[in-house]
Amino acid sequence: NTPSPVITLDGPAGAGKGTIACMLADKLGWHMLDSGAIYRVAALAALRSGVGLGDEKALAALLPTLNIEFNNGEAWLNGEMVTGEIRNETCASATSQIAALPAVRAALLVLQRNFRQLPGLVADGRDMGTVVFPEATHKFYLTASAEIRAERRLKQLSQQGLSAKLCDLIQDINARDERDTNRPVAPLKPAADALVIDTGSLDQTEVFATVLHYIT
Ligand code: CDP
Ligand code: CDP
Repeated sequence: NTPSPVITLDGPAGAGKGTIACMLADKLGWHMLDSGAIYRVAALAALRSGVGLGDEKALAALLPTLNIEFNNGEAWLNGEMVTGEIRNETCASATSQIAALPAVRAALLVLQRNFRQLPGLVADGRDMGTVVFPEATHKFYLTASAEIRAERRLKQLSQQGLSAKLCDLIQDINARDERDTNRPVAPLKPAADALVIDTGSLDQTEVFATVLHYIT
């Protein structure tokens, strides 16, 4: 039996992966994996338990005890809906800290691969095309400058009635990019066979058209 096809979208925060992954999964009628959300729920559990964010041994013991689930666009930790809580900057920063640890990545690998089901999967994250699904049918790497990505984040926040300083957002994004790119395991980088798309001067419709053109 043939394994289900996978399309991967990797890249830094705010590159537009999530948006395109949703559009693509919708269009194809495929499942979707937001792998960042898995790491975020794990980081929230770490923050709550008081485990040190660099304590690999304690994190490796904690993670298998967690019940992490997703349904109807909501994220659940041990039966509690945590969709909103995992999106704040404190959680994002904690996420990129624990995500640098090999034991954390190993503990979350099977959970991610279990999303691969018929008729297909669209997976977004940092290492979808390089580590989790290296045999994916098509791979994309979306990117844009830190300034543009921070401006997008600012706009998202203001739409939610929240305010922030652009310079703080640029700093947060740079710190996270730096950690994600320089970690020894599964660093953020395009797979050798990925199509790299700079989304800086493109809107979502244009990025989506490029992606569709490539897979059909
Ligand atoms: O949505 P955004 O791009 O801001 O972040 P995310 O995809 O939710 O990922 C949050 C953090 O999780 C990233 O900064 C990475 O440190 C980590 N992550 C990872 O290491 N590997 C993945 N496949 C996905 C996320
Ligand atoms: O998942 P990732 O962090 O890569 O980015 P996203 O959540 O899909 O997109 C971040 C924000 O940028 C959203 O508000 C998108 O509407 C916006 N965006 C954009 O303005 N132009 C694009 N080409 C892609 C995304």
